[in-house]
Amino acid sequence: MSEQNKAANKATAPETILTGIKPTDHVHVGNYLGAIRPGLELVSQFRHSLLFIADYHALTTVQDPKELRDYTLSLAAAWIACGLDPKQTIIYRQSDVPEIFELAWVLSCVTPKGLLNRAHAYKAKLQENEAEGREDLDYGVSMGLFSYPVLMAADILLFNTDVVPVGEDQVQHVEIARDIAQKFNRIFGELIRLPKALVKTEKVVPGLDGRKMSKSYGNHIPLFLESKALRKLVMKIKTDSTPPEAPKNTKDSILFDLYKEFAAPAEIEALTARYANGVGWGEVKELLFQAIDRHFSESSRRYHELMGRPAEIEAILRDGAARARKLATPFMVNVRAAVRGGDRDTIAAHGARGKS
Ligand code: ADP
Ligand code: TRP
Repeated sequence: MSEQNKAANKATAPETILTGIKPTDHVHVGNYLGAIRPGLELVSQFRHSLLFIADYHALTTVQDPKELRDYTLSLAAAWIACGLDPKQTIIYRQSDVPEIFELAWVLSCVTPKGLLNRAHAYKAKLQENEAEGREDLDYGVSMGLFSYPVLMAADILLFNTDVVPVGEDQVQHVEIARDIAQKFNRIFGELIRLPKALVKTEKVVPGLDGRKMSKSYGNHIPLFLESKALRKLVMKIKTDSTPPEAPKNTKDSILFDLYKEFAAPAEIEALTARYANGVGWGEVKELLFQAIDRHFSESSRRYHELMGRPAEIEAILRDGAARARKLATPFMVNVRAAVRGGDRDTIAAHGARGKS
């Protein structure tokens, strides 16, 4: 490979990872194992990482300002308590970065309406209205819900993001962002880098009743519970009526599935042996409770400490927003110049990196 090619390769290696999370509730063990822990592991592989609280996306459903603020601070505190380093990862609140909303408008002007008609969330709403026999299929659809994917495209494209880690349900949104970026580049010149979704092969964490742990099923274990409340919830995990002395299978055991996420390898081995020889569910629950309680003891202390000082969380988010805006400013100078004429920012550090 020529030196030139090597240099080009290095320049095209993914370097910016960005993801957003909606502050619609407090986080639970499923969010931790499915999103927070794997997200933190990814961060170190990238030169730039950005994580933001998508509060204006949440506004499509959370319309109580106190609740929105509470969830926003709680989500930021949870990530930091679990190990996110705000010096390494730029963490910010979406609504603190006005460039996102300016870009969203520009992008909406090159977005065919038909592209949004095909977005899953909007289609699901239409189908729901149809199933309920409503004449107005757009019943309950706000412009926020309809243009949600354009705002998400702006979130991503503003920072020349290479990689967007998301769950399966969000892949379509990242593809829409790519389509919009391509459309923009065709009209106004190659300015916007094309992002790629990174789907975490997500194992589904079971909840108290064995279904996927989810707030909407009410079967979740919230993070950072006091030990007593945590113990009480763990004791509620569904088990069958096999007697203690009967050998048990570690497969299809909610207790074991959860235990192996939090226990050390030797402990997992020991419990596997106990299952084979017969063990009482009460005893397994006690072990699971202890493993979860121990795993979160430090982060829980840190979370509650932070939540007791909301001004500190606000300051971290503000600092993150200032850093994010520093990246966004030269980019928006170029977007404005591209769409309305005028000078570009020639010293802008970021730029499109071709059609990856
Ligand atoms: P909920 O289903 O409780 O409303 P969200 O949809 O807000 O959770 O999920 C936020 C993040 O947590 C997503 O990345 C999602 O994939 C992950 N997540 C949520 N529940 C689970 C689970 N039971 N197992 C694995 N990951 C989960
Ligand atoms: N739509 C995402 C969700 O519901 C949240 C989100 C908003 C997002 N903007 C983003 C995720 C940008 C990744 C990148 O989970």
